Amino acid sequence: MSQQPIVLFDSGVGGTSILKEIAQLLPHEDFIYLADSRNAPYGEKTPQEIIELSIKNTDLALRMNAKLIVVACNTATTNAISHLRAEYQVPFIGIEPAIKPAALNSEIKKIGILATKGTLSSALFKQTSEAFTKGIDVIEIVGKGIVEAVEGGWTSDKTFVDRLKHQIQPFIKEDIDYLVLGCTHFPYIIPQLKHLLPAHVKIIDSGRAVAKQTQAVLEKNNLKTLTTARGRISLYSNADNIFHLKKLVEEIPTSEVNRMDF
Ligand code: SIN
Repeated sequence: MSQQPIVLFDSGVGGTSILKEIAQLLPHEDFIYLADSRNAPYGEKTPQEIIELSIKNTDLALRMNAKLIVVACNTATTNAISHLRAEYQVPFIGIEPAIKPAALNSEIKKIGILATKGTLSSALFKQTSEAFTKGIDVIEIVGKGIVEAVEGGWTSDKTFVDRLKHQIQPFIKEDIDYLVLGCTHFPYIIPQLKHLLPAHVKIIDSGRAVAKQTQAVLEKNNLKTLTTARGRISLYSNADNIFHLKKLVEEIPTSEVNRMDF
């Protein structure tokens, strides 16, 4: 049992989509969320840069007494998590695209994946994709400008929606029946995607699965809190986007949302 916090980090505000799922499943735990918005997006950076940023965030999480770290970013997970696991003792949870359930459930054996360049070009992604998609057509699209729009809060702007519509045409042309969101920022454009894609396309992200995995790892390592009081949820960003960050998490009971340099 442990009263220490669970710390999540992401390249920005997108990983709050994961925080919400975990905090809902584990309401008595304390959470700290680190939004590295100053360095967003990670998706266009080199693997070495992504590893260095992930080390910086991990060191801060450990200074904040983390008992478990959630790498709430697909790009950081696919490029840096094996390095982090090799260097640090603390348990890490990573976010991998939900390719397996999409491939298993696809009736027409055609699935789409929308992710960053950094995720789609990583060795870990290729391994996962190859392992689960035998006999399945996989249409991969690098989402351009989506992380920036979620960070900036302009996902409803017409220019953004038009660009998104243009980008996802191959999903429509190939007639996929499942779309996997391979970036924790992308659940924030589900309404736009639903509007643009045919109604039969099911959109899946990794949030629920990651929450269950976090619960299982806490139990396995005897790290669950014993308190029955509601836990504290604190969020920090290193950019001037606190108002936007607060808005994204307004449905969960946060204790503080503040700017911090890291
Ligand atoms: C990014 O920062 O480019 C995307 C974050 C993610 O892959 O979840």
